Amino acid sequence: MPLPDLAQKMIDHQTTAVFWFDPQLCLQAINPAGESLLKLSANQVYGAHAHQLFPDCECFPHLGTFHQPDPVIEHGLRLTLSSGHSVTVDCSITPVRHSSKTAPEAFLVEMVNVVQQLRLSREENQMLQRQTAQNILRGLAHEIKNPLGGLRGAAQLLARELPLEQREYTDIIIGEADRLQTLLDRMLGPRTPPHKESLNVYQVLCRVRQLVESEVGTGILVVSDFDPSIPDIYVDPDQFHQALLNIARNAVQAMQNQGELLLRTRVERRVVLGHRQHKMAVRIDVQDNGPGIPEGMLEQIFYPMVTGRADGTGLGLSIAQTLVHQNDGLISCSSEPGKTVFSVWFPLHGE
Ligand SMILES: Nc1ncnc2c1ncn2[C@@H]1O[C@H](COP(=O)(O)OP(=O)(O)O)[C@@H](O)[C@H]1O
Ligand SMILES: [Mg+2]
Repeated sequence: MPLPDLAQKMIDHQTTAVFWFDPQLCLQAINPAGESLLKLSANQVYGAHAHQLFPDCECFPHLGTFHQPDPVIEHGLRLTLSSGHSVTVDCSITPVRHSSKTAPEAFLVEMVNVVQQLRLSREENQMLQRQTAQNILRGLAHEIKNPLGGLRGAAQLLARELPLEQREYTDIIIGEADRLQTLLDRMLGPRTPPHKESLNVYQVLCRVRQLVESEVGTGILVVSDFDPSIPDIYVDPDQFHQALLNIARNAVQAMQNQGELLLRTRVERRVVLGHRQHKMAVRIDVQDNGPGIPEGMLEQIFYPMVTGRADGTGLGLSIAQTLVHQNDGLISCSSEPGKTVFSVWFPLHGE
C-alpha cells in the first residue's frame, strides 16, 4: 500500500524520521527527517528492505509474525545504519491494518534521534547558564563604570593644577582608568542591535582569510575549502566578520606559529537553530591542528573571563557567541589534541 500524496505531504513536515514499509518490509515512503537520519536520499532507499536499512535492528517483525495490534516502542535503541554510522533512537513501529483481524498492510516506523535531542537540551541549558553569568558581569561592569568615570575626571582636574613635569602619577591614573574602561566596554559586550542584510558568505570569508593571512607568520598555513555556490545568509556583516575573526585569531594563537588553519563552508539540511528547524543552513568551520582545548575547560569556553592565555581577557569567544546568537545562529566547539573545530551555523536567507 503506497502512501497517498496528502499523507506524504503530512509526513514531510514531521520533525521525527518517518518510514512507511509494505508488508514485505520494503520501504515505500520516507520523509526528509528520515533521509537525514539515514544520510541517504529517498531515491537511494526506495524499495530497500528494513533489514538492509537497519542491519542490526531486531525489533523489525518478520513477515507474518507481527500479531500485536499495538505499536512496538523501543527506547534508546542503538542502530548501526547501512551507511556505517551509528545513531541512538527512540523507535515506534505501528502495524497499519484495515481491521483488527486482518494482517498488517503496512508498517509505520517513527524514529527520534535521542542524542540530537539530548544535545539540544544540553545546549539550551548551557546557553541559559552563560546568559546568567553574562548578566551578572554586565551588572558589575555597569556599577564599576560610574565611579571609574569619577576617578578619571578627578585625576584630570588634579593634573590641570599641576605643572607638566609633576603629572606622572595623574597620567598613570588616567591611563589605567582608560584601560579599565576599554575592558568594561568589552565585558558589556556588543550593545548595538544587528543591522541585518543579505550577505554572501563566500566573499566575507575570503576577506577573513586575507586578514588572518596577513597577521600570521610563515609557520602557519591558511587553507580554505569554500563552497562558492552557497546562497546568501541574512546577518549583520560587521558582527559576522567580528565573530569569525575572534575564533580564527584564537586558533592562530593556539598554534603558536606552527600549524594549519582550515576555513570550510558547507550547506546542511534540517538544522535546528534556537527553537526553529531550518530546511537548510550554512555551516562554517574554523579548524586548527594546534594542541586543543584542555578537557576541563571545554565546557566553559564560551563563558566570559575564561582564558587559558596569560595575556588573555577571556572575552573573545563570549563576544563571538553573543554576536552569533544575535544573528540567529549557533556556535559550538569540539576539540582534541591536533584537531579543534569551531562551527558556526546560520540559516539561509529567506528561510
Ligand atoms: N582553537 C583553539 N585551540 C586551543 N585553545 C583555544 C582555541 N580557541 C580558544 N581557546 C582557548 O579558549 C580561551 C578563551 O578564548 P577567548 O574567549 O577568545 O579569550 P582569550 O583569547 O582572551 O583568552 C583561550 O584563552 C584559549 O585557552
Ligand atoms: Mg581570543
